[in-house]
Amino acid sequence: MPYRIVFVCLGNICRSPIAEIVMRRLVRTAGLEDRIAVESGGTGDWHLGEPADPRTLDVLRRNGYDGSAHRARQFTPQWFDEHDLVVAMDDSNLTALRRMAPPDARDKIRLLLSFDPDAAQSEVPDPYYGGADGFDDVLAMIEQACRALLEQVKTEL
Ligand code: 4NP
Repeated sequence: MPYRIVFVCLGNICRSPIAEIVMRRLVRTAGLEDRIAVESGGTGDWHLGEPADPRTLDVLRRNGYDGSAHRARQFTPQWFDEHDLVVAMDDSNLTALRRMAPPDARDKIRLLLSFDPDAAQSEVPDPYYGGADGFDDVLAMIEQACRALLEQVKTEL
C-alpha cells in the first residue's frame, strides 16, 4: 500500500489541484510513484465534476504542467480512512477538516506551508477572487512547500 497524501482546499479547482499536480511530478521524478499516491479534494461542493479554473490550467501550462485531466471532487469524512496525510491550504480548510475528522484522524491533518521552513506565511491564500498574479504566487509557494513535504514523507516510507 503506498503512502497516501490528499491536498485539500475549498473548491478543488485552484490550490489543491495545483498541489496535486506539482507533487505528483516531484514523486515521479524521485522514482517513488509506486510508494506515494497523491490526490486532492475540496471541502465545498460548488464545482464538483468541473475542470480546474482556467487560471489554474493557465499557470500550470505556463510552468510546464498539464492540469487538463483534473475534475473537482469533494472531500468527505471517509477520506480520512483512505489517506495517511491530509494537507490543508489555509486555516479555514484546516478548521473544516478538523470538524469533520474522527478523533483518531485529527493528527493526519497539516497545513501545507508548515512543511516549508522558509515559508513567509502559514497559509496558501485563496486566489479565486484575484488576478493571474495570485496564481503565480500560489504556484511558487506550493512548489517550494511540496519539495519540503516530499523530503518529510521520504523519511516515513
Ligand atoms: P480553491 O479556490 O479553494 O483554491 O479551489 C476557490 C475556488 C472556488 C471558490 C472559492 C475558492 N468558490 O467560492 O467557488
